[in-house]
Amino acid sequence: MTEVQLLQTIGLSVLGLGGAILLFVKARFVRVVAFVSIVLGGFTLVALSIPQMASLPPAVEKFDVTSIQDKKELASIGQKIFFGKAQCALCHTIGTGEGRCPDLKGVGAKLTRGFLYESLTQPQAYIYKDYEHVGQPKFFPAKMPYINKKPIALSNNEILAVIAFLQNMSGEEVTIELSEIEAPGPASTARKGEL
Ligand code: HEC
Repeated sequence: MTEVQLLQTIGLSVLGLGGAILLFVKARFVRVVAFVSIVLGGFTLVALSIPQMASLPPAVEKFDVTSIQDKKELASIGQKIFFGKAQCALCHTIGTGEGRCPDLKGVGAKLTRGFLYESLTQPQAYIYKDYEHVGQPKFFPAKMPYINKKPIALSNNEILAVIAFLQNMSGEEVTIELSEIEAPGPASTARKGEL
């Protein structure tokens, strides 16, 4: 029995007991107590019927370099990073229309790999503006963050995986080679918390 079910059972028994007392006991004080417990039990049951949602921080994606078999897998890791750790979807949509930021549908076909990398790591080098309206293009209300710096701070492997995802979801060939993904080598190359 889960915690909620246990509490619901207790609430129901309090309600039932209160009801029974109201039906069979004549003493006024006891009846008042029973009435109060029915009201409180009722409130408790209503409160417990509201679905509970624990808000947890985004799951930490394990980037197990050795387990990646092919580019599709790299792209699917990139997808998890895109929607999870990197929080790209907070700003960007994919195919559902531009909001605060450019929609990324087909961006892997529109931009070259180098340009994609630059968009993520030097977002201010080339600013893509909002053209989806009549008149002069204007800045988007939000600002593209540096993906390789804090707070998002993706490792190079993770950035490559995200690029693989952007290319893959645009129907393009993934041009990230698996050999480019650095293995977690000796302490010198693998910085703490990166891989
Ligand atoms: C705080 C909101 C925000 C977040 C988070 C964000 N972006 Fe952006 N992004 C923007 C804005 C605004 C632009 C357009 C302005 C510019 O080019 O800097 C942009 C531009 C881009 C572009 C270039 C689009 C084009 O058509 O030229 C790419 C690619 C991109 N973002 C990918 C990503 C990825 C991948 C992530 C997650 C790792 C991400 N963004 C996270 C706001 C955001």
